[in-house]
Amino acid sequence: MSERITREQAWKLLNDNVKGENYITHSMAVEAIMRGLAKRLAPDDVEYWGICGLLHDLDEETCPWREDLSTHGPTSARMLKDAGFDDEVMANAIMAHNPVCGKSPETTLEYAMIAADPMSGFIKAVAQIYPDKKLASVKKKSVTKRFKESRFAAGANRQYMMEIEKTGISFDEFVDISLAEMLEIADQIGL
Ligand SMILES: [Fe+2]
Repeated sequence: MSERITREQAWKLLNDNVKGENYITHSMAVEAIMRGLAKRLAPDDVEYWGICGLLHDLDEETCPWREDLSTHGPTSARMLKDAGFDDEVMANAIMAHNPVCGKSPETTLEYAMIAADPMSGFIKAVAQIYPDKKLASVKKKSVTKRFKESRFAAGANRQYMMEIEKTGISFDEFVDISLAEMLEIADQIGL
């Protein structure tokens, strides 16, 4: 395996390839949640799990996912490799957040990835229903309540979010961790 990508290198790679501000803030939110999950599940790999989250949508503006969703994930893996980072664990974690590409989650890291992605968007959607649209206003109770309303933020895949339970973390804890971690960077992600 080539050397591991650093946070700084990952940040540059992301910004070189993704220009949409919403994609960048989404990537940062998923990074934050992944770091929070790693603190519980893989304390020696907090930075690494965060980088997996940060890069999970690296190919967002490169691959033709609107026409062919199966290209989303494998394209990021190839981009990572082309940049000189031949990291199978990271490539698999990135691909596993989109099982449509043929890679299903099988490891703790991969279950965390597939769950963290929709959770970040879901929490953002909950924040946006408050008058101040601030993450600081969001209570866990409103997240769990809205989760049960299938029409609310319908794009946030509930089944994927529930995959977190395969890591041993309950859905309830997952909400706590995600809220706390996103709140830490609320200013940076416009929430
Ligand atoms: Fe994503």
